[in-house]
Amino acid sequence: MEHDSKSYYQNYAAARKYDKTRFKTIRGRVFKILRTRIMNRFLSEFCLKGKAFDLACGTGLISEWLLKKKCKVVSGDFSFEMLSVLKEKFSGTNGSLNIVRTDALSLPFQAECFDLVTCFRFINLIPPESRMKVHKEVARVSRKYALLSYSAADRYQRLRRFLKGFLGYSSNGGFPATKEELSNELRIAGFEIVSTKMLLSLFTEELIVLVKKIT
Ligand SMILES: C[S@@+](CC[C@H](N)C(=O)[O-])C[C@H]1O[C@@H](n2cnc3c(N)ncnc32)[C@H](O)[C@@H]1O
Repeated sequence: MEHDSKSYYQNYAAARKYDKTRFKTIRGRVFKILRTRIMNRFLSEFCLKGKAFDLACGTGLISEWLLKKKCKVVSGDFSFEMLSVLKEKFSGTNGSLNIVRTDALSLPFQAECFDLVTCFRFINLIPPESRMKVHKEVARVSRKYALLSYSAADRYQRLRRFLKGFLGYSSNGGFPATKEELSNELRIAGFEIVSTKMLLSLFTEELIVLVKKIT
């Protein structure tokens, strides 16, 4: 992995650069459209309403989607800098958005207080021991559903990573996991997988997973 995900984003320059890359570049815009399409498709599996928590929200890519879906949104991140960029952007949301500085490993919320928890492009940045802790915290605060993203570790993605490394390109995938590993870890945390979808498997490692609490 290239950087420590907790400290790297505690910096205004990094926060602004991240926001620009995710929202303003052609690549960022294309991925945003594709990701939105996948998330909208997942909505056929459940009714999205009520209160949502966007964990490790960064500058608000997923929070923006949740706001458009008319949810009451709590956006949480460890980085003040990321949260302040988000705050500037969503200042006119009239009480539908609350911003909280929080550590994913220990969430300051009561059990089952969110209808949906989202967590994108963060769990892939942390090692498996922490991933398990985050899964448990997400399961604790979620009433039923969570929408999470990971770096996939299937055969094609392993080959792609190897070739990228060989050609001198860095991979920002962090700690990839197979679907079997994720399914086992999520089950221990109290979730079952409802649906999975790769963002664009030829070009990214991003695996988007809809999970539901085991009843
Ligand atoms: C790659 S960004 C993803 C942001 C956003 N979810 C998105 O998809 O654009 C990773 C985020 O995780 C946050 N982060 C890192 N460690 C964290 C922790 N322990 N608790 C909460 N957020 C954390 C960083 O500050 C950063 O905003």
